[in-house]
Amino acid sequence: MARTRALILVLIINLFSTKIFCEESHSHDQDFSDEENKALYTSPVVSGFAYLAESFDDNERFKTVWIQSQAKKESADEDIAKYDGVWSLEESLRNQQDGDLGLVLKSKARHAAISALLNKPFKFDDKPLIVQYEVNFQEGQECGGAYLKLLTQDPAHADLKKFHDKTPYTIMFGPDKCGNDHKLHFIFRHKNPVNGTIEEKHCKKPKERLEEYFKDKIPHLYTLVIRPDNSFIIKVDNKIVNEGSLLDDFTPPVNPPLEIEDPNDTRPEDWDDREKIPDPTAVKPEDWDEDAPVQIVDEDDVIPEGWLEDEKPTIPNPDAVKPEDWDVEMDGEWEPPEIPNPKCEGVAGCGPYKQKMKKNPRYKGKWLAPLIDNPNYKGKWKPRLIHNPDYFNDDHPFRMSPIEEHTGDGDGPRRRKANKE
Ligand SMILES: *[C@@H]1O[C@H](CO)[C@@H](O)[C@H](O)[C@H]1NC(C)=O
Ligand SMILES: *[C@@H]1O[C@H](CO)[C@@H](O)[C@H](O)[C@H]1NC(C)=O
Repeated sequence: MARTRALILVLIINLFSTKIFCEESHSHDQDFSDEENKALYTSPVVSGFAYLAESFDDNERFKTVWIQSQAKKESADEDIAKYDGVWSLEESLRNQQDGDLGLVLKSKARHAAISALLNKPFKFDDKPLIVQYEVNFQEGQECGGAYLKLLTQDPAHADLKKFHDKTPYTIMFGPDKCGNDHKLHFIFRHKNPVNGTIEEKHCKKPKERLEEYFKDKIPHLYTLVIRPDNSFIIKVDNKIVNEGSLLDDFTPPVNPPLEIEDPNDTRPEDWDDREKIPDPTAVKPEDWDEDAPVQIVDEDDVIPEGWLEDEKPTIPNPDAVKPEDWDVEMDGEWEPPEIPNPKCEGVAGCGPYKQKMKKNPRYKGKWLAPLIDNPNYKGKWKPRLIHNPDYFNDDHPFRMSPIEEHTGDGDGPRRRKANKE
């Protein structure tokens, strides 16, 4: 990797009692020793040029370089809107080394944002952008992000104390989780070359399962590399978990389609999209009776032997007595309850006999002409394709808005900033 001219950013973050360390990527692999036998820690030395290198082991530097947001989130309930999460530099919970501190987010269920200016603006020209930082969810993670936003150069947003969720960024990168939704964001904001509108482009999901990184409570190194040929690579612990092209692997795609369906095209009145039609030459057969009922009385059914047609199946109970408190006004005329007619016991049945029904052999239902292929079938109608008036072709989405920031009035020194929200 062309580390010398590219941005190198290494942090460790844990949202609930969080650590953010910063060290050069090669020192990530060093052994962390036991509590009793703390290894000697020395602050990593950056070799070559880095736009920002931060190891979060120096409180004085931390206070001057890193700016905590005091903004309010626009679209949040008033009681949690303020970015008032508390950050501090502390030792990690495990594998401590004397003097090896990290940035820890102390507060639960609070918005927190911290940012720093870069040493020098990053311009997307002929050098790759490399962003690398380490995150340790020391106590696991329920819901929250540990992602970076690389803020776009914009004089209107120069004051990092006002950094909030709507501050324009060029790239957003890093882990984020809520419930069972585990994400490793890579979003870039693309400027439409025709009308200047900015649109977020979201990277396809990594194939890798991400759960472990959020719950194993050990540090993980997240790396994003974007090259001038529009290719990108995302790595976790130096293993590639996602890669592709800025042109092909984002939604919505950078370049709109060349042709679109004409919104003004309408289906002609006489467009026939019936694949099959009833045969117009078919005629109903003479003997087809559409009115014949489904079932008819079975005339062969005879009354069973012993059936007592003159006896009712039930009779009023002769032993029933009208209750004493029966009130004709309130309850109506008293009638004894019905009981099975004892005369019908052991016989085939009582009362008027109804013959059984049977399927009507003459039943045919409504006559329908058989279906034939429609000679006028024109296929499914689709609007015609026209040239997309919004079409453009940007072959170089890598050339994103510079990650930098005017300080002062815009003629002042330009510096870049990296941000953690
Ligand atoms: C559709 O018709 C309207 C009105 O005639 C016109 O202004 C518009 O440009 C047309 N749209 C397309 C895509 O041709
Ligand atoms: C710019 O063009 C896109 C379509 O390519 C459109 O969606 C957007 O609304 C346009 N913005 C402005 C400000 O016209």
